[in-house]
Amino acid sequence: MSGSSFGEIFRVVTFGESHGPAVGCVIDGCPAGLRLTAEDIARDLRRRRPGGGGPATNRIEADDPEILSGIFEGRTLGTPIAVLIRNANHRSSDYDNLRDLYRPGHADWTWEAKYGFRDHRGGGRSSGRETAGRVAAGAVAKTFLAERGITLRVWTSSAAGIAVPGPAYENIDWEEAERNLLHMPHRESAERALAKLEELRRQGDSAGCTISCSALGLPPGLGEPVFGKLNARIAAAMLSLGAVKGVEFGLGFAASKGGGAALNDRPLPAPAETAWAKDLPPDVPALTWRTNNAGGTLGGISTGMPLNFTVAFKPISSVSRKQQTVDRGGEIRELSIGGRHDICAAPRAVPVVEAMTALVLADLLLLQRCAGV
Ligand SMILES: Cc1cc2nc3c(=O)[nH]c(=O)nc-3n(C[C@H](O)[C@H](O)[C@H](O)COP(=O)(O)O)c2cc1C
Repeated sequence: MSGSSFGEIFRVVTFGESHGPAVGCVIDGCPAGLRLTAEDIARDLRRRRPGGGGPATNRIEADDPEILSGIFEGRTLGTPIAVLIRNANHRSSDYDNLRDLYRPGHADWTWEAKYGFRDHRGGGRSSGRETAGRVAAGAVAKTFLAERGITLRVWTSSAAGIAVPGPAYENIDWEEAERNLLHMPHRESAERALAKLEELRRQGDSAGCTISCSALGLPPGLGEPVFGKLNARIAAAMLSLGAVKGVEFGLGFAASKGGGAALNDRPLPAPAETAWAKDLPPDVPALTWRTNNAGGTLGGISTGMPLNFTVAFKPISSVSRKQQTVDRGGEIRELSIGGRHDICAAPRAVPVVEAMTALVLADLLLLQRCAGV
């Protein structure tokens, strides 16, 4: 029953159901003295917020975080940080007809099979709404990373089957990614994908997407072999999100098709000005790599290269087109899902992937302090 907590030292619990009074998080283990304001958290919540137009749901939520504890005069106290985000704009009546139905692609039946009953309103705890607590916690973790010169770049690399052209993770146009509704770093692809998503909305359908991340400025040494490898922790974090069906690092699945002679990343002496070189153990030379096919880890430990990975989200399950399902009585029924929902997890998944990455990295940085280096 402890599935709502995450992390070892930087430990987060998220709470709340989609149509309950509130969602939020409690962070235990955040170091004292970090400069943090409610606005730092609110900024990221606005990026995740429903009602942003395009493929996002038009459920409108203010998502103003209330910090209940752990921050005093703009600095973290080292005590548990509790953040509350009230649910204001839910319309539970939209879900009245779903009390006894199992929606295709949703967690309705599996929750009942496990617990015997469920909060059917808006998907309860399996709703994308739960990720608001993660984003609030991630904003705190991001300030810890920023103080160590680590930045996260997260973007939509494909939506509705339309992908940003060119090699993954290279020549990313960050300004464009900030500008368009989908957070795609290529204007023409974003426009085509938005048009496709609009067409799907009209047809009562939905679409999948991939979200990519580059974590820049990571020192080497992060990751706890063997079960706490950096890539294993990131994959677990991503797969804990609803609708995620795959995670790949660097070349990912394509690496299974090539040979080691071509695909091994070859080491080079690192440039003299490499910031983390002074922190290496004695007699270990600083290295860099000609390529980053591995995506920034070797043996589950960060190499000092960017940590590059991509997360695949399945199409949003709630569609207004009629689908067949089964009710509690075992009868086949027809269902058309009303209510307000996303057409595609992008762009709202962008700050969510960023938050989960920040939580993993903050935790591994703190664990590294215990590694004896
Ligand atoms: C940020 C985010 C927003 C989501 N919004 C919706 C939504 O509006 N409608 C929907 O059907 N699913 C949405 N989902 C996905 C569901 O939560 C998820 O598919 C469902 O609970 C079943 O879980 P599974 O796909 O992981 O098996 C969202 C997921 C995320 C991460």
